[in-house]
Amino acid sequence: MTDRITFTISRRKFAEILIGLVSLLFASGAVAAILKYLWPQAAVGTSNEVKIASVDEVPTGSAKKFLFNGKAAVLLKRPGGWRAFGAVCTHLGCIAYWKPDENDIFCPCHLGRFDPDTGAVISGPPPSPLPAIDIAIKGGEVYALKWKDPDYVRTISFYAGAV
Ligand code: FES
Repeated sequence: MTDRITFTISRRKFAEILIGLVSLLFASGAVAAILKYLWPQAAVGTSNEVKIASVDEVPTGSAKKFLFNGKAAVLLKRPGGWRAFGAVCTHLGCIAYWKPDENDIFCPCHLGRFDPDTGAVISGPPPSPLPAIDIAIKGGEVYALKWKDPDYVRTISFYAGAV
């Protein structure tokens, strides 16, 4: 034998409950929209901001790869502070990487070398520097904020769509 509990509810009461639930959903959406408007930084962050690493994760003399606006990038902790650059080589678009034993950012395709402090070309065929990325330290985390020179980035074909 199974026990069954049944209760009845009038159509009118059911409609009132349904309208109440729908109203609650709309009200919560409106509250969220108001909060987002009042505190946009807390709600969505800066448009292109990317959390890269905690400050302890990248010791001085080392680096970490990350993606910025869909492009390979590299964060370096230099003796003089943090640096970040797009890692897509300005020659033919290969991905360059931090080479600590040679103290440069190295592109393996045609042996291009870039200065890890400035992104400038040290040697090889790359025609122009790696584009720099502005970074900030917040709450013990390193964030990539924006391209330092968006107009320069627009001139590099391999960075199309990254600005
Ligand atoms: S693609 Fe980097 S040196 Fe040629």
